[in-house]
Parts: sequence; C-alpha cells; structure tokens
Amino acid sequence: MIDYRAGRLHFEGVPLESLALRWGTPLYVYSARQAQARARALQSAFPAPRWLVCYALKANSNPRLCRLMARQGLGADIVSGGELEVALASGFPAERVLFSGVGKTREELRAAVGAGLLSVNLESSQELEALESVAKALKRPAAISVRVNPGVAARTHPHIATGARGSKFGVEPAEALSMYDRARRNRWLRIAGIHCHIGSQISDVEDYKSATRAITGLLRTLRGRGIEPELIDFGGGLGIGEGRDPGIDPRRLSRLLEREIAPWPRARALIEPGRYIMAEAGILLTRVLYRKQAYGRRFLIVDAGMNDLIRPALYGARHPIWPARRGRDSARFDVAGPVCESADFFARDYPLPAATEAGHTLAILQAGAYGFSMASRYNSRSLPAEVLLQDGRPRLIRRRL
Ligand code: LLP
Repeated sequence: MIDYRAGRLHFEGVPLESLALRWGTPLYVYSARQAQARARALQSAFPAPRWLVCYALKANSNPRLCRLMARQGLGADIVSGGELEVALASGFPAERVLFSGVGKTREELRAAVGAGLLSVNLESSQELEALESVAKALKRPAAISVRVNPGVAARTHPHIATGARGSKFGVEPAEALSMYDRARRNRWLRIAGIHCHIGSQISDVEDYKSATRAITGLLRTLRGRGIEPELIDFGGGLGIGEGRDPGIDPRRLSRLLEREIAPWPRARALIEPGRYIMAEAGILLTRVLYRKQAYGRRFLIVDAGMNDLIRPALYGARHPIWPARRGRDSARFDVAGPVCESADFFARDYPLPAATEAGHTLAILQAGAYGFSMASRYNSRSLPAEVLLQDGRPRLIRRRL
C-alpha cells in the first residue's frame, strides 16, 4: 500500500524519504506483500490443478522476488539462459519452467534440455531442427510446444503487440501443424503443448478470444490426427490500470478461456503474467536535482533517467509521479532525467506541488515490472539499487552497480 501519513509518502508503512536517505537515489523499492497478493489473485482466478500460473521473469528477475514467487507455487516463464539460471537458483522446479523466445541459441537449448523443463516453446521449424539435434546429442528427450502466431492484432502499443501478421513471433498455424508432425516422428521430442502470446498490457478480454479461437481450431485439427497436447498456454499480457487504460479483470479472462477450452478437459492450461504481478509492487524513487524554466515550460531535472526506467521514453507509458511530501498548490512540470537524449522524460505537464524544489524526493509508481529489468548503463551511469519491503522491514536486495 502506498499512502500519505501526516503528509509524508509511505510504502507499506515505511516513509519513503528515509529509504532515499539511507540508500540514495535512484532507488527501486518493492513490496513483497503487494507482489504476493497479485500472484495470489491470479492463482485464485486461474486455480490449480486445471491452471498453472507461470511468472514471466522478464518483468523483474531480482532473485529475491523470484524466490517469493517460487515459494508461492508459481511456475516460471523464461526467455534466456540467464533467466533459466535465475529461475532454477530461485527455487522454481524445472518441471514448472517454460522456455519461450524467438532466438534461443544452441547453448540455451542444451541448458533447457539438460534441466528437463516443462516445455521449450518453439518459434520456427529451424529451431525445431536445432532442438532435435541437441536432444539427440544429449540423449535426453525434450518436451516441446509450438508457439502459434494467430495473426490477430491486440489493442496495445505496437512495440508490445506480438500476435499480429508481420510480427516476428511464432509460426503460422499451417507451419505449426507440420512441426507437430515432425516432432511426433522424432524419438527425442515429446509433444507437450501449444503456445501463443499476443502481446502485453492487454485490457480487453476480447483480444484473447480471437487468439484462442485460432488455438482451439488448431487443437481440433491435431485431435483429428491423434495428437492431444497436454498444455494449452495462453501467454501473458494481462494489463494493469495505466493512465486511461482500465486493465484486465482476471476472472472475466479465466471464464472466457475456460469456456473455450472446455472440449479439452484433461489439458493443463497456462498463463504467463509478468506485469500484472510486479508492476504495482514497485516504485522508483528519484530526487530533484534542479528546477528551471525555459520558453514558458517548467522543468524538474531528476536524478533517475531513461536508463533506469525506459518505459515512458520507449512506449509513451504514463507512470503516476507522487511527491514524497504532500504540498498545497499544484503547478505543471516537465519531469526529465539527466541522460543526453531528448526522449529522457518521465512526464510532461505533470501536476506536482508548486513548491517542488531541488532536493525533494519523488516516487514514480507502477515501476516494478520492466523497470529495473530494462535498466541499462547508458551514459556510463550506474544501475539503480533495489530494496525490498517485507514484514515492515526494508532490505537491500541489489546494491547500486
Ligand atoms: N510470455 C511471453 C512469451 C512474453 O513475450 C511476455 C512479454 C510475457 C509472457 C509476459 O507479458 P506480461 O504479462 O508482462 O505483459 N517491456 C514492455 C513489455 C514487454 C513484454 C514482452 N513479452 C513494457 O515495459 O511494457
């Protein structure tokens, strides 16, 4: 919970200014309780044993947060050898780990087969061949799913829509069929499931419906050929309330998906949410370095930059910004970082207390997902530090690097 107590901004009861003082800024601060509550909400909307909720590590792969998710019984969705290492080290059992991604290297495929993952999600016929030869060389069968591109455009930012024609992800349904045929004939491959992921920050369950129809159509054809995948994976993408976007209702989504997959009662259904679990659980603390005015605009130059949180610059994302101390009259500011790029803004024309000045601390909200995980050292800046609030106590979970 984030709220004002006697005019000071608190996160889970901890005054944020004290954290900024103790560890410096920019600083990511996460709430264990919030991440766990969101994960639990999904586990109850998508209950076991029919469903397995797999946390998409790409949203935030801090090992402490991953460990919380593993302990809660979630599976993991990973996209690289690095995420595989973090997932296993954080306690996700291999048989609950899915490996997605359009360009897995041989080395990554080897690591996946060696670990014995729940499924390697294949995104091309050539990748299937590569996996065949890796599994054969290791003499270990690999469980596979084919990622289908259903050719539907989800209504979201074009950078994060993945299921449309022209997207690099997945294969067309016809190619998926020939991949299943080939996998069936190979003794080192075991058909585990079918996969699709149409994009991220999706608010309308109807977008999932059109994708699901493509998947169930394919499942029917496969059934005609005697192939019954055990896993039906709908990917992630569950949107949160962001700006004018209301976000998704997980229960409505699960009802819709359940209806669509009723003819496959024995299959296990999967979702791979990242943002829905982590976004609201994290904030980025930053301090105002300078205030200035130019050509009629008021600027606050803060010490966090697009290297720390790239979402506003890359997707035009609107993160709420709250001052650490509540002020009275409000004025409009452009909040910009120190990076030498004109896109280095967190907000334009944003209402903040008129007296906001150098030295004041601001909290950028909904930054727990795709915040730190997309941070870079551009401009040779440091990576921000990360703090976890758990049981009312703050604890450094990654130092500034
Ligand atoms: N599964 C697959 C195969 C994915 O590609 C993704 C996200 C997810 C699951 C998790 O999606 P989520 O539930 O978090 O929406 N950096 C962007 C988001 C990129 C998402 C990429 N794939 C952002 O900051 O908005």
